[in-house]
Amino acid sequence: MPDPTVEVTSFMSTSVRYERQGDVGVITVDNPPVNALSQHVRQGLLDCLAEGLADDEAKALVLVGAGRTFIAGADIREFGKPLAEPDLNGVISTYENATKPVVAAIHGTALGGGLEVALGCHYRVAVAQGKVGLPEVKLGILPGAGGTQRLPRVAGVEAAIDMITTGKFVPAGKALQLGIIDAVVDELIPGAVAFARKLVEDGAPLRRVRDMDEKVKAFDAAKLPEIRKQVVKAARGQMSPVGCFDAVAGAVTLPFDEGLKNEREIFGGLMASDQSKALRHIFFAEREALKIPDVPGDTPTLPIRQAAIIGAGTMGGGIAMNFANAGIPVKVLEMSADALERGLGIIRANYAATVSKGRLTQDAMDKRMGLIEGVLDYDALKDADIIIEAVFEEMDIKKKVFSTLDAVAKPGAVLASNTSTLDIDEIAATTSRPEFVIGTHFFSPANVMPLLELVRGAKTSYQVISTSMKLAKTIGKVPVLVGNCDGFVGNRMLEPYVQQGELMLVEGALPAQVDGVLQRWGLAMGPFTMGDMAGLDVSWRIRKRRAATRRNDLFWPTVSDQICEMGRFGQKTKAGYYLYEGGSRTPVTDPKIEQLIVEASKAAGVERREISEDEILKRSLYALINEGAKCLEEGMAIRASDIDVIYCFGYGFPAWRGGPMFQADLIGLDKVLADIKQFHADLDDRWKPAKLIETLVAEGKSFADYDRSR
Ligand code: 3HC
Ligand code: NAI
Repeated sequence: MPDPTVEVTSFMSTSVRYERQGDVGVITVDNPPVNALSQHVRQGLLDCLAEGLADDEAKALVLVGAGRTFIAGADIREFGKPLAEPDLNGVISTYENATKPVVAAIHGTALGGGLEVALGCHYRVAVAQGKVGLPEVKLGILPGAGGTQRLPRVAGVEAAIDMITTGKFVPAGKALQLGIIDAVVDELIPGAVAFARKLVEDGAPLRRVRDMDEKVKAFDAAKLPEIRKQVVKAARGQMSPVGCFDAVAGAVTLPFDEGLKNEREIFGGLMASDQSKALRHIFFAEREALKIPDVPGDTPTLPIRQAAIIGAGTMGGGIAMNFANAGIPVKVLEMSADALERGLGIIRANYAATVSKGRLTQDAMDKRMGLIEGVLDYDALKDADIIIEAVFEEMDIKKKVFSTLDAVAKPGAVLASNTSTLDIDEIAATTSRPEFVIGTHFFSPANVMPLLELVRGAKTSYQVISTSMKLAKTIGKVPVLVGNCDGFVGNRMLEPYVQQGELMLVEGALPAQVDGVLQRWGLAMGPFTMGDMAGLDVSWRIRKRRAATRRNDLFWPTVSDQICEMGRFGQKTKAGYYLYEGGSRTPVTDPKIEQLIVEASKAAGVERREISEDEILKRSLYALINEGAKCLEEGMAIRASDIDVIYCFGYGFPAWRGGPMFQADLIGLDKVLADIKQFHADLDDRWKPAKLIETLVAEGKSFADYDRSR
């Protein structure tokens, strides 16, 4: 129903409209889903501003977003294409130079170009739930429409550097404190209209942010070099935080127009970079992963109001915290009161550590702990909407747990397993309802790592898949649906990658050398530091399980087994590939292990050689790519971009490298294949190229083409 108090004037555009409420004109951006600043929106913004300025009845103007949010930024889909006029900087300066006061009214999120438009308005108000931010850094670019010049002028230089180099969102209350907005209003449009009317009554000035240089002048420019050093360090090879810093620094050292020019120049360089392409790829890949080709998007989901976890160990405790953090009551079942108390104690200690760092209030911690209930009896689980098993990684134990769950769980409950390698169908077969069984593979620490690999069994229903995808989002995870095979997608690909690391040790490398190359390339850590962190015994157990079925014609390195035989399981035993003295988590090289490796080469009859940085990088990365391609050709992963999401959100692969499959396309699949073939000839049959890579190269295609064709 149209609002009878609103006068609609003659002008209407499809995505931006102008209306008047008494003596205040309201410009509404209506470009679902997030009011991105597509070309037609930029044009509409100019047209409607002109309409408002020409409307003699309008004394002031309000700019607002329709639907769930203010403007969420530039239209990322237009990036990489030729610029279509009008350009955003021009739109913003037209608003800033408007001859009537313009008030931005923010709800949802004012992000990127959206906040930059708001900063071009003379005043800004927001509802209490509104948030503002300049997240461009996460797309490998910087705020390129004046954000790096205007934000420091309202929020101060240090706050602006923090927001722009990290991309963090700031809630309305904090934005008010910082001076980014001028008022928090109860109701969006009435509040903004009243604010605008008051400006007119008070004869308030047309306040242009570009002219507000008090805060930048108050900043001591001598601090800039030190802050830059910190930004460079935290960026770990990513260019955009540094570019963001340099642009904001221009707000301190240059006049406004020159600062804008400097911002444009840095923006252009970043936009054309591979890093930005990679980050944009990951942005869309994360959202694409939510779409499952054969599962209709409108499949009804089951309500998840209560959850339960079996096992309060390393994973169970973290998984329970995810539910409590999202306000969902969760029961945790253990085998004994002691094990339960220990598990709950670790959860409590985790929350307490967050409270002590000031990132959670005591009250919020108490509320979250209040949602977690320890139980010892399966009867207590009968009302749970989802039950996630996280007991020891042994098929027999899991089967017993699932047949018990089948007997107690209510009809329609989702029965999930956190197994990292075992066959979901074999687990599901122990129940009378395999369609309700799914793998929910969380990553350690489960309360921190964003990835959730959802494993689809042969009989898992659409409803259970949709419910699990939705639940993942509710508890703040990034879900990717994969098929049921040993190790699923992430861990399956990890195995040949780790094997290459171990083989290179025997051939001549040392752990710190391999880890160093990969870390400098951008990975959070190399394979040996990662093994020490995860626990070397975990993969030792898996190797033993697979020993009987592994190929006898290949050489199997034994260094890792020997380290485990010494009782060195990594960080938890203070020693693994490295030493961790005094409980430190920093790996320290151990000459004893280096000696062991040299001995292992001798025992294998291998003459140690210099292994180059290039070889370490290629053998590690191409092992991931080749196995990833096999996962794709077998249908275990739906898309190459899903694999990239898995690696960037679950395995510390730098998002600015776009994931292993994106890297393959960037390098050129033909070049990757040529190297894989060379490794196949020089090393062993582990390097047999995946058929899919050969087919794509023969057809002149990339993994991205393969995704698009599906
Ligand atoms: N451009 C184009 N499409 C966008 C978009 C944008 N800026 N932001 C979101 N979308 C699309 C998504 O791809 C998704 O499409 P799909 O349904 O086809 O998959 C749809 O909008 C909904 O997005 P989400 O699923 O992410 O919706 P949420 O409600 O979960 O989140 C959001 C909303 C917080 C706005 C989130 O989408 C987001 O963070 N968007 C990006 C914001 C951003 O980075 N803005 C800066 C852009 S760069 C810029 O402004 C440059 C300037 O400085 C010159
Ligand atoms: P853990 O050994 O830390 O914890 C297992 C817990 O389950 C213990 O507290 C144990 O008392 C309890 N338990 C065992 N049998 C039980 C039963 N019948 N009923 C109730 N409780 C029982 O193991 P972790 O590391 O938490 O692993 C659990 C599962 O998660 C395994 O399947 C593992 O493969 C998987 N996983 C582990 C990851 C890791 O990094 N640790 C990562 C991803 C998945």
